[in-house]
Amino acid sequence: MEGEKKQVTCYLLFSLSTAVIGSLQFGYNTGVINAPEQKLRAFFNATWMERYGEPISPGVCTIVWSFAVAIFSVGGMAGSFSVGVVANKFGRRKSMILVNVLALIGGGLMGLCTLCSSFEMIIAGRLMIGLFCGLFTGLTPMYVGEVSPTPLRGAFGTLHQLGVVVGILIAQIFGLESLLGSDKLWPILLALTILPAILQCFLLPFCPESPRYLLINLNEEEQARKALVRLRGYEDVGKDMQEMKEESAKMAMEKKVTIPELFRSAAYRQPLFIAIMLQLSQQLSGINAVFYYSTGIFKSAGVTQPIYATIGAGVVNTVFTVVSLFLVERAGRRTLHLIGLGGMAISALAMTIALLLVRFTVCFNFVKILNQPQQYLMIMVNVFITFVSKQKDIEALQYLSIAAIFAFVAMFEMGPGPIPWFIVAELFSQGPRPAAMAVAGCSNWTANFIVGITFPKLEELCGPYVFIIFMIFLIIFFIFTYFKVPETKGRTFDEIARGFSGAPPPSATSVEEPGRVALPASPVKEKVPLV
Ligand code: GLC
Repeated sequence: MEGEKKQVTCYLLFSLSTAVIGSLQFGYNTGVINAPEQKLRAFFNATWMERYGEPISPGVCTIVWSFAVAIFSVGGMAGSFSVGVVANKFGRRKSMILVNVLALIGGGLMGLCTLCSSFEMIIAGRLMIGLFCGLFTGLTPMYVGEVSPTPLRGAFGTLHQLGVVVGILIAQIFGLESLLGSDKLWPILLALTILPAILQCFLLPFCPESPRYLLINLNEEEQARKALVRLRGYEDVGKDMQEMKEESAKMAMEKKVTIPELFRSAAYRQPLFIAIMLQLSQQLSGINAVFYYSTGIFKSAGVTQPIYATIGAGVVNTVFTVVSLFLVERAGRRTLHLIGLGGMAISALAMTIALLLVRFTVCFNFVKILNQPQQYLMIMVNVFITFVSKQKDIEALQYLSIAAIFAFVAMFEMGPGPIPWFIVAELFSQGPRPAAMAVAGCSNWTANFIVGITFPKLEELCGPYVFIIFMIFLIIFFIFTYFKVPETKGRTFDEIARGFSGAPPPSATSVEEPGRVALPASPVKEKVPLV
């Protein structure tokens, strides 16, 4: 352990923090759209009035609004899918610098939208920002994994998700009416992503290029050695160099697998199916319905200060990410994922009850409800209300809905938040891993898009029952995880691969040793997998 500690230099921490600005950006842009919803809707209406002389219809307004939210994920899909090509062509560090141009364009478009009276600029800006974030969801973990010392690669790899949740929290705080969420300043709130982009471009030239990229991809041994010496803080980096050379040799031996091959080969079918299902379980849990729209959800639950409840959700999100980091190597991935999914399903039910209670406590009319046979289910809730709640208890119901949403978020970060990313890297060996990560990343962003685009309409159609949809998904994913997902904690890649088909897949040589993180993969350490 002594030796390991010495490997953590200020220069390494500086390089890691610089890369994690990308994760922060992903989190910021995920959370930023939430608070200014009403301002954006008002802006859409004003622009419409200016152009067509009549107010925008509520239906069209909802469509434009959901489009502005969800187009971010379309960019994310494209970005996450192309990260391997970009990172290998330009190198890790240069790619990060180049990709920041997208944030400058996207932030600029959104910041200037009111000046140009164009809501299309918000949509175009969100697309650019999505592309930028999709690329960074791959670039940051890749760079972090490649510059970290092997024994600490897992621990540092978790910085990515931590960056994401802190980014969401910052967006929620800046979104306060008294800060940047006001009628006048909201375009600046959206454009603020430009500042970290500039900061990162300024800092990156002081960071080293990934030594693994220099050695394995470019064959520049001397440059790689120099970068390592600076990162580790000592001259004798022979062991690290040797380890990278071995990795390079192993990579050369192992057959690279393309995406079509991944789908065609029977050996990868099961782990690929599991990887995709886990990504879907992360997104179809409805987590981003909360992070994109929680202000609106809290409002309909009768919360008088929804923005503070939203910030509370961000704090809970951050705290439980840290809790999960400590638990994941002890409790195991499968167990934590099951606890998370189960807990989220219960919280979704509690949220539904809270929303129903608010609605029926406000306009409690038993006879009217009896006249509507389709609402017999609600009668039971109303009977419950007569026992537990009176008009004056409406305030208490706010707390029930806040508690339910906080529990939903906390349970998400226990398992479904961090684990799907880790486990995909563990389910595949070196050869198929990049392709598997691209497919997994793209499934994640696609599901993110579907939730983002459909949630406002679903909420309109289903009212207080909307979270029942997510509850059903959560139960399905719980059953799937229980029967199909293996525990990967403490198992080598070879053991995991053997567990699927009785024999390792064609390209899975005995890769006990970790590999390089090729795409949005989380770093992997020897035998004991990811933190
Ligand atoms: C994960 C998800 C992301 C979500 C975030 C919430 O990083 O990939 O979509 O917004 O967690 O913490």
